[in-house]
Amino acid sequence: MNSLDHVAIIMDGNGRWGLKNNKSRNAGHKAGLKVVEKIIKSSIKQKIKYLTLYAFSTENWKRPKKEINFLFDLLENFLTHRIDDLHKQNIKLKIIGVKSFSLKLNRLLRLAEKKTLKNNKLQINLALNYGAKFELINAFKNLAKNKENINEKNLVKYFQTKNIPDPDMLIRTGNTKRLSNFLLWQLAYSEIFFEKKLWPDFNEHDYIKLISKFKKIKRNFGKI
Ligand code: IPE
Ligand code: IPE
Ligand code: MG
Repeated sequence: MNSLDHVAIIMDGNGRWGLKNNKSRNAGHKAGLKVVEKIIKSSIKQKIKYLTLYAFSTENWKRPKKEINFLFDLLENFLTHRIDDLHKQNIKLKIIGVKSFSLKLNRLLRLAEKKTLKNNKLQINLALNYGAKFELINAFKNLAKNKENINEKNLVKYFQTKNIPDPDMLIRTGNTKRLSNFLLWQLAYSEIFFEKKLWPDFNEHDYIKLISKFKKIKRNFGKI
């Protein structure tokens, strides 16, 4: 049985769910947040150490302003009301991505990270304004600036995921089979699961089913 330390999730399908069930994409984002809470709880039960959630990509800025504002308001609200509870549950929150939002949100994110820094039950890496291509280019720029040798050890220390082990499994909901600029380097040896359900329909039972599938896979890492 494989051990499972790190699950990464591309939480896709909120917009379609919202349109289908409530005639608004934003209703899907709201419903999606409830599922986030359930999956966090379940991850703790499953003794997972790292949960990386793709919440907003560097390309998602191309969406209508109204939807972007709704998403960040939702996040602001979540951080304001739920961070104490996450802290009590010994959860560490880390943002991966560039924190260039409103002053208020930047501050809330920094505070949340600081407050939960020493927690060690589950680390949630929230990918916000995250893009793997940017992360790679930025790391290479740093190598060049500091005249360092180009090797794996030097490169990864400039990643936003520095000190985080690579994901063991990746789940993408929403019936689409692509990576959408998520953790391109770190997913090199992850087991990938594409799930038909839209994110707001995904539940703990689905999650546990995928985890038990993962545990039975023969992982080779190039060996036989
Ligand atoms: C994923 O759901 C959440 C974000 C990108 C914020 P989508 O909003 O992409 O939902 P679909 O894919 O349009 O249904
Ligand atoms: C990926 O979903 C980003 C997040 C889930 C945050 P998208 O819906 O943005 O991906 P594409 O555009 O369909 O590839
Ligand atoms: Mg989508």
